[in-house]
Amino acid sequence: MTAQSVILPLPSDHARFLVIRLKDLSIKQLQQQLQQLFSTRDRLITQHPHAQIKTAVAFGPELWAQLYSQTPNGFKQLEAQHGAFHMPVQPADVFIHIASARADICFALSQAFFEGARDLVEVLDERVCFRYFDGRDITGFIDGTENPQFPDDRAETALLPEDAGVFADGSFVFAQRYAHNLEKWKKLKVDAQEQVMGRTKLESIELDDDVKPENAHVARTVVEDEEGEEMEILRHSLPYGDGKGDQGLFFLAYTKDLSILDTMLARMFGTSGDGVHDRLLHFVTPMDGAYYFAPSEELLEEILES
Ligand code: HEM
Repeated sequence: MTAQSVILPLPSDHARFLVIRLKDLSIKQLQQQLQQLFSTRDRLITQHPHAQIKTAVAFGPELWAQLYSQTPNGFKQLEAQHGAFHMPVQPADVFIHIASARADICFALSQAFFEGARDLVEVLDERVCFRYFDGRDITGFIDGTENPQFPDDRAETALLPEDAGVFADGSFVFAQRYAHNLEKWKKLKVDAQEQVMGRTKLESIELDDDVKPENAHVARTVVEDEEGEEMEILRHSLPYGDGKGDQGLFFLAYTKDLSILDTMLARMFGTSGDGVHDRLLHFVTPMDGAYYFAPSEELLEEILES
């Protein structure tokens, strides 16, 4: 089977994320809106073959149960964290990831999805995101250095394996918008910022273990299985913002196993039991958050036609 097109390639320069609750939209109408999105996408791909137009559509666990008779193993809603910091959950029905080398095309695809249904749905977020300098978060640090880079590794990390049957090549999704307190962040000197992240700012070199604090972001997000193998996720996060101050990161990860994210989040928010939390959270605040499932292209098609 085939993964939805945005998941495996490296990120393009522009993305738009739609976080939606159905409200008054029926499932039949949702199917129509998605068909509308896909036919516009396919037409634009033909007209602009170099624009790297890619999408993924994912569904929250509640809606999924109405769309399909079986549920992929381990699919559930995100749980809030109440540790050193609070992490909210804002369940949604549909998550749409639109990406392209062109911002106008991302806009046109969002328009195509909403056309004719604007008043029927509740839009929890429509976030316009962009690649910032050399793939940096707006804290100035390169985001994605340790992301799996090669196609095979990306697939191995993000996609459900063949033995998942009808769910093979689907992927679980975690989306969470963070708001940055850049004024506070900028008060730190560069070497102090590097201690927060656990990597150098200019070139993203990991700090040596003997100088990297245990509460550095990368120290909290490196997690291992019982055999000591690192458990990875595939991140597609991108910055957003307006110049005057509402700025942050739309965190987005694809994974074959949501429990990896549960572990990372518990270690970040200080609920993993070792009394440590991620120091980055003194500078960035999660505003929402939810889990979804993005089925393979084939299963998505089946759902849209049912
Ligand atoms: C505003 C929020 C966040 C910012 C600014 C941020 C930024 C960064 C940066 C700069 C790096 C180092 C470079 C890299 O390897 O990509 C990194 C690594 C990483 N982050 Fe985040 N991150 C954020 C939230 C999260 C969240 C919520 C998770 C997971 C639940 C996460 C998981 C990871 C992982 C797995 C790594 C790679 C660790 C390694 O293998 O060395 N991050 N992040």
